[in-house]
Amino acid sequence: MEPMYIPLILIVLLYSLYYYFTRTFNYWKDRGVVGPEPVPLFGNIKRAALRYENVGETMANIYHQYPDEKVVGVFRMTTPNLLLRDLEIIKHIMIKDFDEFSDRGVEYSTDGLGKNLFHADSETWRILRNRFTPIFTSGKLKNMTYLLTERGNRFIKYVETITRNQKEHRIHTLVQRYTMSTIAACAFGIDIDDITDNNPLIKTLHKIDRDVFTLNFALELDMMYPGLFKKLNLSIFPKYVNDFFHDLTRTVTNERQGKPSGRRDFMDLILEIREQKELPSLKRNESDDQTHLEISESIIAAQSAVFFAAGYETSATTMSYLLYLLAKNPHIQEKLHEEIDKTLENHDGELTYDIVNNMPYLGKVFDETLRLFPLAEPLQRNAKSDYKIPGTDIVVKKNQMVLISPRGIHHDPKYYPNPEVFDPERFNPEIAAARHPCAYMPFGVGPRNCIGMRFAKLQSRICIIKLLSQFRVEPSENTLKEMKFDPKRIVLSPSDGILLNIVRRK
Ligand code: HEM
Ligand SMILES: *[C@@H]1O[C@H](CO)[C@@H](O)[C@H](O)[C@H]1NC(C)=O
Ligand SMILES: *[C@@H]1O[C@H](CO)[C@@H](O)[C@H](O)[C@H]1NC(C)=O
Ligand SMILES: *[C@@H]1O[C@H](CO)[C@@H](O)[C@H](O)[C@H]1NC(C)=O
Repeated sequence: MEPMYIPLILIVLLYSLYYYFTRTFNYWKDRGVVGPEPVPLFGNIKRAALRYENVGETMANIYHQYPDEKVVGVFRMTTPNLLLRDLEIIKHIMIKDFDEFSDRGVEYSTDGLGKNLFHADSETWRILRNRFTPIFTSGKLKNMTYLLTERGNRFIKYVETITRNQKEHRIHTLVQRYTMSTIAACAFGIDIDDITDNNPLIKTLHKIDRDVFTLNFALELDMMYPGLFKKLNLSIFPKYVNDFFHDLTRTVTNERQGKPSGRRDFMDLILEIREQKELPSLKRNESDDQTHLEISESIIAAQSAVFFAAGYETSATTMSYLLYLLAKNPHIQEKLHEEIDKTLENHDGELTYDIVNNMPYLGKVFDETLRLFPLAEPLQRNAKSDYKIPGTDIVVKKNQMVLISPRGIHHDPKYYPNPEVFDPERFNPEIAAARHPCAYMPFGVGPRNCIGMRFAKLQSRICIIKLLSQFRVEPSENTLKEMKFDPKRIVLSPSDGILLNIVRRK
C-alpha cells in the first residue's frame, strides 16, 4: 500500500468514530428540548464517567443550570434521557401514570441474583413487590426490633473499647460494622458476635461491599447500549457473590428445615410467605392467571442479596452524614442529647418500635440529613410506551429513560431557602406538610419507592440513640470543612470516611 494513503485512512477512521460517538446528539435539539452541550462518547456525564465526581453531583449541576425549565434533555453517554425538573410532571410520571413507568430499566440476566426487587422489571417486579411488601410492615418490624437493639448494645461496647485510647475514628467504617451485623441478623438470619475484621463473615462482606459498590465501566456500557446485559444474559455480580448468597440461603433454610424458626427476622417472614401458595390480590382481572410465584431458593438468595446491598451501605452512609452534621452543629446535638436522655429515662432505657418512632427531634434531624445528602442518585424510570409529558409537547419514546435528581431538588432555594444550611426545623410537621409531596424524595417516590424505608429508619435511629446516649461527636483536626464525595462509589459516599472525635459524655 502507498504510504500516502495511511493519513487518509486514519482521518476516515477518526471521522467515523467521531460520527458514531456523536450520532445522537441532535436528538433533543430537533425536538426543541434545551439541555447542556454533549461531548463525544460521554454526552453530559463526562466528569462522572471519568470518576471526577459522583453522578449525583453531575445531575444536580445540570438541574441547577436550568432553573426555568420543566424538563432538560441530557445524554448519558450517547443515549438521550430526559431529566425531569418540574414537581407536577414528576408526580404524574412517578405516581399518577405509574403503570407506564413501573420499570427501572436496569434488568439483567435473571440468573445470577437477577430476580431481585431492585433490578427486576415488569411482571416479575410486580409479583415480587406484591409478595415482599408484607414483610416490611410496622407489625413485622415491631417484632424485629429486639434484633436491632441487641446489635446496638454490642456496637456500643465495641465503641467503648476502641475509644479508650483513641478519640479520632473513621465514622463510616465504624457504623458499617453495626449495619453489617443488623443486616446479617435481619436479612440472613445470622448472628455476628464479633464485629471486628477477625470475623471471616465480616471480611467477606467487606470484600463484597468493595466489589459491588465500586463503579466499573459496565454501568456506562449499559447506558450506551440499554438492555445489553439482559440480551447477553450477563450478571452484574461476580460469580463468588452469586455463590455466597445461594450458599447462605441453603444453609439457613436447611437449619430451619424450611420453616419459620421463631426468630421473626426477614428469613422467617420469607419462609412464612412461601407457605401461602395462591395470592388472589395479584389478579388484575378475571382472566389474569399471574397469581403464583414460587419462592424458590434463587428468589430468596436474590432478595437477601438486594436487602444486603440496598440496606447496609445506605444506612451506614446516612448515619455517617448525620454524625458529621451533629459534630459541626453542637447546639443541635445538644438538643438531640436532651431528647434521647429524656426518652430513655421515661422508659427505663428500653427501646421499642413505638418509642423510637415517637422522638420528633430525632426524626427531623434524620430527615434533614437525607435532604442535604440524598444518596441514591439519580432516580430513573423506563417508559413502557410513547408518553406525552403533561403540559408540554414533548414525547418520551418507548424504552426511553426519565431521570430525577433528588439532590438538585433538595438544594433548590425555591423549595428550601438557604439550602446549604443544616436546619432540622424544615421538617416541622406544618412546614413539611406545606411542601409539594415530590419536593423531598430520599427514598424515591410512588409505588416503586424504597421498600425498606421503615426498616432503614428504625435501624439507623436505634444506633444513633444508643451511641449518643453515651458519647458526643466533635470535629477533629482532620475533619473536612466541606463534605467531599467519593466518585468511585455507586451511592453518594463521603470521600474520606469522615474523621471525627468520639468523646464520652459525663
Ligand atoms: C437510609 C437508607 C436507605 C435509603 C436512602 C434508600 C434509598 C432508596 C432509593 C432512593 C430507592 C429507589 C427508589 C425509587 O426508584 O423511587 C430504593 C429502592 C430500594 N431499596 Fe432502599 N434505601 C435505604 C435503605 C434500604 C433498606 C434498609 C432496604 C432493605 C432492607 C432497602 C431496600 C430497597 C429495595 C429492595 C429497593 C428497590 C425497590 C423496588 O424497586 O421495588 N433500602 N432505596
Ligand atoms: C409477632 O410475633 C408474635 C410471636 O411470635 C406473633 O404471634 C405475632 O403474630 C407477630 N406479629 C406480627 C404482626 O406478625
Ligand atoms: C443464562 O446463563 C445461565 C448461566 O449463567 C444459564 O444457566 C441460562 O440457561 C442462560 N439463559 C439463557 C436464556 O440463555
Ligand atoms: C388481564 O390482564 C392481563 C395482564 O395484564 C392482560 O394481558 C389481559 O389483556 C387482561 N385481560 C382483560 C380482559 O382485560
